[in-house]
Amino acid sequence: MNIGNIVFSNPYPVFLAPMEDVTDIGFRLLCKQMGADLVYSEFVSSDALVRGVNRSLEKLQVCDEERPVAIQIYGRFVEAMRDAAQIVVEQAHPDILDINFGCPVKRVAGKGAGAGMLQNIPLMLEITRAVVDAVPGTPVTVKTRLGWDHEHRTDITTIAEQLQDCGIQGLTIHGRTRAQMYTGEADWSLIGEVKQNPRIRIPIIGNGDITTPERARECFERYGVDAIMVGRATFGRPWIFREIRNFLDRQGEKGAEQADDNVLSPEWKLSVLKQQVLTSVERIDEYRGILHSRRHLAASPLFKGIPNFRETRIRMLRAETTRELFDIMESVRPLIY
Ligand SMILES: Cc1cc2nc3c(=O)[nH]c(=O)nc-3n(C[C@H](O)[C@H](O)[C@H](O)COP(=O)(O)O)c2cc1C
Repeated sequence: MNIGNIVFSNPYPVFLAPMEDVTDIGFRLLCKQMGADLVYSEFVSSDALVRGVNRSLEKLQVCDEERPVAIQIYGRFVEAMRDAAQIVVEQAHPDILDINFGCPVKRVAGKGAGAGMLQNIPLMLEITRAVVDAVPGTPVTVKTRLGWDHEHRTDITTIAEQLQDCGIQGLTIHGRTRAQMYTGEADWSLIGEVKQNPRIRIPIIGNGDITTPERARECFERYGVDAIMVGRATFGRPWIFREIRNFLDRQGEKGAEQADDNVLSPEWKLSVLKQQVLTSVERIDEYRGILHSRRHLAASPLFKGIPNFRETRIRMLRAETTRELFDIMESVRPLIY
């Protein structure tokens, strides 16, 4: 499978989803080390990039070890999206430039950007064409949802063809409508329909509710997608990429599960989470690095089942230094088995 000139040698590529305040450079690096085939930045506002807002420009920071990396932008103005695309390519040289037409939150979709664009397909296509034309050497992809609401949930079959005709090189579909936000179940049958459409030549990346290696395999086998994208299931569990990779690569091989036991042991997972804290602190700064990591720690399945963990979780969420966080993690080490 390839997206433009980026070749994915793996037959079952697994991507890290773009997530605001989550997929910073530290977390992307870690997921890459765990086996993610492609990582995405959080979405960056095209308007803010054009205005030169520092906090947005900082989000363009990438490093070679995480490549291939995609940077995602969003916005509702053709000129701003076109100019922002050029800024991103000049400053970050991403392997892929992704356009967000899927964000459901009010401050974005309510203003017509993100998933709001599902209510204005001509503008969506105009922006896509402008961005594709603006960065001729960089593959452009789109991430979107099935449609605006239940009534329009099959819109994606036509939209996919139209976006392909604009020159995009890959399409990610989150199997929900905008109206669903994050409720209900992702509908993968419609993602499968898009993939099976003989007119579609670009890779289709399926997204929504993948939380186990078994479900990952089912999504590839049943719906025929070219790649899958995992979001929320990575919180406090960056090793999910390793779990999925091991399962997909070695399925059928006797003893494979046993071989993984050493690597995926609770001890190893604790060391991965500590590494996550250190990388975050090193790549951002101690204050924000801790802020980003402690949410992951509090959500980590590694600590599920520990009796009376609630208090420890609260302490984790309040920790302000690496030392403090590590002391809390060490205090639960004997309980994580
Ligand atoms: C905290 C959070 C932030 C998100 N930020 C973005 C974003 O910046 N860009 C984007 O395209 N999707 C964003 N999403 C949506 C995810 O990329 C993904 O489509 C969604 O979570 C469904 O996948 P999942 O079921 O594997 O989590 C975000 C989701 C969450 C939970």
